[in-house]
Amino acid sequence: MSANNAFHIAVLGGDGIGPEVMAPALEILRKIETKAGLSFRFTEAPAGAGHYRETGKSMPDSTIKLCEEADAILLGACGLPSVRYPDNTEIAPQIELRFHFDLYAGVRPARLIPGVPSPIVGADQRGIDLVVIRESTEGLFASMGKGVVTESEARETMVITRRTSQRLFDFSFRLAERRKARGRAGSLACVDKANVFKAFAFFREIFDETAKRYPGVKADRLYVDACSAFLVKRPWDFDVLVTENMFGDILSDLTAGLVGGLGMAPSADIGDRHAMFQPCHGTAPDIMGQGKANPTAMILSTAMMLDWLADKHGVESAAEAAERIELAVDKIYADGIKPTEFGGSNGTADIAKAVLAAL
Ligand SMILES: NC(=O)c1ccc[n+]([C@@H]2O[C@H](COP(=O)([O-])OP(=O)(O)OC[C@H]3O[C@@H](n4cnc5c(N)ncnc54)[C@H](O)[C@@H]3O)[C@@H](O)[C@H]2O)c1
Repeated sequence: MSANNAFHIAVLGGDGIGPEVMAPALEILRKIETKAGLSFRFTEAPAGAGHYRETGKSMPDSTIKLCEEADAILLGACGLPSVRYPDNTEIAPQIELRFHFDLYAGVRPARLIPGVPSPIVGADQRGIDLVVIRESTEGLFASMGKGVVTESEARETMVITRRTSQRLFDFSFRLAERRKARGRAGSLACVDKANVFKAFAFFREIFDETAKRYPGVKADRLYVDACSAFLVKRPWDFDVLVTENMFGDILSDLTAGLVGGLGMAPSADIGDRHAMFQPCHGTAPDIMGQGKANPTAMILSTAMMLDWLADKHGVESAAEAAERIELAVDKIYADGIKPTEFGGSNGTADIAKAVLAAL
């Protein structure tokens, strides 16, 4: 537990560009702490493919213990395609931590920051400001490590539970209510495949029951295939979307693409007690070690962490610090910074320096 405005943060840099985007994010938190009257204690811990290569484990027990004790977890990204378990799957402590701490609500905002180019025609005029909520502890991922493979076939089983779906929908409706209070549409779309699968019909039924308790939020239902087309054709019509783990994994990368790329998309994995904050992207082995990684998603994830800490501990200055970071990020894009991610010449160091100066 934190004392007053002091927070202990578990820092898991991970692999590839994970540590490269984590370093500037911590620098920004260091700068903001004095200004906001907050105090952070960062404890770094190993996790990921590098650690597996050295020890045969995705992360040590001490990392899990640290995450248990800390007020929040910051994660860069983990995994490398070249490092695999004997069954040919990858090292993914970020997914194990979601299961371990029951972080069922994966919150993935996609906001088009003015000045950032979107591939969608008209987006600069109409704007994009939506949130995908990806259930993060079950769905098809419940099968992780448990799939059955024989010589002739492979099977993975999806799991949808009433308990998790109920908490997920309550979380999503409450978020839509809060966004409505701040001037957004106040709508929530359940994205599923209820026309084909019983598990999704069950998911939608629980959504419908929950919707009755939130009359102020417009509840929509969409099939994931049609939803994908709508997201590309008119993303400005969406407010909050809630979906199963695998669908959310895919749709949130799509929505990141709508707002400039994976380096622009932050995320939070939230449970009833713990929360982990990390960019939507992975370890980007194609650009690691080159100073090209866009740290914006990681920086915006720290703002999400501050917001969550503010809410959980009733520390208003942490919410103000979150807003300060978001405004600084908006300012650097309005001023014309252009990451290499979308064709510009600004690398990690330029972007970090600009945000620090704008704080
Ligand atoms: N949360 C996580 O830790 C996480 C999430 C996804 C993938 N992964 C792992 O990451 C590895 C690479 O996966 P992938 O290539 O499918 O996805 P990725 O997100 O790492 O990269 C996809 C593409 O986006 C680019 N990109 C991603 N983040 C960027 C940033 N901040 N700035 C500029 N460009 C960026 C990459 O260069 C690449 O071309 C795999 O080992 C995968 O398992 C980890």
